[in-house]
Amino acid sequence: MTTTPREGGSGSPFDMTGRVAVVVGASAGGLGQEAARALAAAGATVAVANLAPLGDEIEKVRASLPGSGHSAHVVDVTDESSVRELAEQVLGQHGRVDSVVNAAGIMLRKGYAETSVEEFERIIKVNLVGCWIVGREFGPRLAALGGGQIVNLTTVYAERVGPIPESAYYASKAGVVNVTRSLASELGRDRVTVNALAPAVFYPTAMTMPLKDDPDQLEWFAQRTMLGRLGDVDADFAGPLLLLASPASSYITGQVLYIDGGWSAW
Ligand SMILES: NC(=O)c1ccc[n+]([C@@H]2O[C@H](COP(=O)([O-])OP(=O)(O)OC[C@H]3O[C@@H](n4cnc5c(N)ncnc54)[C@H](O)[C@@H]3O)[C@@H](O)[C@H]2O)c1
Repeated sequence: MTTTPREGGSGSPFDMTGRVAVVVGASAGGLGQEAARALAAAGATVAVANLAPLGDEIEKVRASLPGSGHSAHVVDVTDESSVRELAEQVLGQHGRVDSVVNAAGIMLRKGYAETSVEEFERIIKVNLVGCWIVGREFGPRLAALGGGQIVNLTTVYAERVGPIPESAYYASKAGVVNVTRSLASELGRDRVTVNALAPAVFYPTAMTMPLKDDPDQLEWFAQRTMLGRLGDVDADFAGPLLLLASPASSYITGQVLYIDGGWSAW
């Protein structure tokens, strides 16, 4: 596989100089912001996107990135016209797109008996249908540009469940794995790789913040890993993300990479 033509670059497969990356669900202090930071630090021009009510937060995330030329956008992954508009905005503004990271996600923290059908469907819509829509809108555009990388966020519970009652979340993230494999299969001949990152508990992001009220459970999560600690948003996420979102993973597709301190290997 030849890499997409671009300007500059150090020759490192992790070098994103001259490339454009999109991060959807780029939450302040979350994995999306860390993904954007890692891509920008590797030289990419980054387009960060999140829900419209978070306009100020998106702008702050953009402004926090190293380098220049980054852009901030609004998007709702459950709305295909919104995702299409994001893709067109990024292409219009930056002229190309090479990598897409979908970090959008929601969690309920409710048992099955307390979860309404509407709530279950909402989780599936954002986490699973949204993931598919992002792939469906960006996949052909990456293909038309000669190839690229799509990275979806699933979880260490992608193929198992955890102690927090979360049937909708677990179901949605299991679905993300096979959406990832399916799109990888359909887009592979177009030089588009599609992979998933499966984090265990990274603390503290907006999603994991409620755990601060449950130190016993936090400790349980930490001790459940081989490394005996939780994931550190600042230290443990950028490397695996950059691997899958850069040409370094040009012959890796349809895979799930666990960032879990060994959790899933036990
Ligand atoms: N933090 C962890 O420990 C952890 C562990 C496993 C998996 N994950 C996954 O990683 C991803 C990022 O998690 P995080 O911890 O940074 O959480 P987070 O809550 O900080 O970020 C999720 C972002 O998704 C955005 N979002 C929600 N609905 C959206 C929609 N319809 N359209 C666009 N954006 C939308 C939210 O605004 C939020 O900014 C999620 O998919 C999550 O399931 C996180």
